[in-house]
Amino acid sequence: MLLHNNISPPFLHTPSTLKTTTTTHLRNLTISSQQQPTTTTTLTGTGPKGIQGISISDKSLTTRGFNFHHSIENLNLDQLNSIFVAVGFPRRDPDKIRVALEHTDALLWVEYEKSKKPIAFARATGDGVFNAIIWDVVVDPSFQGIGLGKAVMERLMNTLLEKGITNIALYSEPRVLGFYRPLGFVADPDGIRGMVYSRKKKNK
Ligand SMILES: CC(C)(COP(=O)(O)OP(=O)(O)OC[C@H]1O[C@@H](n2cnc3c(N)ncnc32)[C@H](O)[C@@H]1OP(=O)(O)O)[C@@H](O)C(=O)NCCC(=O)NCCS
Repeated sequence: MLLHNNISPPFLHTPSTLKTTTTTHLRNLTISSQQQPTTTTTLTGTGPKGIQGISISDKSLTTRGFNFHHSIENLNLDQLNSIFVAVGFPRRDPDKIRVALEHTDALLWVEYEKSKKPIAFARATGDGVFNAIIWDVVVDPSFQGIGLGKAVMERLMNTLLEKGITNIALYSEPRVLGFYRPLGFVADPDGIRGMVYSRKKKNK
């Protein structure tokens, strides 16, 4: 699903790595997962209610020109779509993206000050009380590897935990498992396996 199709880097200088001074671990998360036939892995987790440590403060990110947003206001869906395509997700109908985001419980995205464009995004759907599923965790290829993905995930997790949602699931490509594990996600806890029904479109 995630075939690399990088866009041209829009900036001459890729920002340097965002390094941290505070604790990053989301403690006591108990998480389960299942390897899917489509090479996607489902991970679910439970965690304590309350704010967890974050690796880098909003202030520190803002100083570097990265601004967090927690609603779809001012989010350019075509530009978001471009990030999806750049990381290998299929391009989606913008109208359907809007509907999906309107039915999303929590989302956040990072705007790069210089370009005024979104460069990182993640969202979660759920029942608002017990369960949530995280979707569409993406960082523009030009900005990957500098801590933004972790920063986005930490904040999204904290938003869910603050709501008291302690069962948090996601699908992970095998090659991204190592990104999610330090955030507290584990595969197959206590042997629990996820099952997914997914109707695939037939090739014509
Ligand atoms: C996966 C993704 C969101 C990570 O974002 P990122 O900004 O590049 O990651 P970060 O710089 O925040 O990395 C945080 C940590 O995770 C590690 N990490 C990042 N990607 C990793 C990977 N694929 N495998 C293992 N570890 C990874 C980093 O080394 C870093 O470790 P550190 O905290 O010890 O320094 C980003 O690479 C991306 O958008 N990929 C394409 C889309 C995708 O695959 N999304 C997930 C769908 S399942």
